[in-house]
Amino acid sequence: MGDNVVLVGFMGAGKSSVGRLLARQLGRCFVETDDMITAREGHSIPEIFAERGEAYFRALEEETVRLLALKSGDVIATGGGLYCREGRPEALKALGTVVWLRGDFDTLYERARRAGERPMLAGRGREEIEALYRAREPYYRQADLTVDTTGIGPDQVATRVLLALRERLSLSSLGRGQDEGPG
Ligand code: S3P
Repeated sequence: MGDNVVLVGFMGAGKSSVGRLLARQLGRCFVETDDMITAREGHSIPEIFAERGEAYFRALEEETVRLLALKSGDVIATGGGLYCREGRPEALKALGTVVWLRGDFDTLYERARRAGERPMLAGRGREEIEALYRAREPYYRQADLTVDTTGIGPDQVATRVLLALRERLSLSSLGRGQDEGPG
């Protein structure tokens, strides 16, 4: 398994801000899949959706997942839909520890609506977005770790992620010790 930390979760979960904080605290590089796509295409995410459509964007995400295999030791924030495709949980877990930033739908929805231009929200009502969230949840649930973001800010979320990562690391080294056994 790789040694990246991969953040997944719905729009508005705080993947970018938490990822940036985490990277700083861990002394690692921070990578965003949306930025990788934007840099390669020379267009913003809303432009890509408007000019080429969602299917084209999803194909770019597919390519991005392949490029992520070259990363090591990074903190990677993924776009909200990237993890939610057949085979993605397995592909991303192979890159490192996948952390789901979970939040209650109402909070995520309000945050996503307030912050920036999000093409997935355009022309869709609240119910449709909630249905999208429910359809994605089974994927997010497959993350290695889940951190609840409800009612707390990015700093506290980053601290919780760090604690969860540390706990997982010490458990896995304990596990290895037991496997090796005496003598
Ligand atoms: C998307 C989420 C966005 C971006 C694109 C599609 C989605 O990223 O990848 O607009 O399908 O949920 P954020 O989760 O950072 O908003």
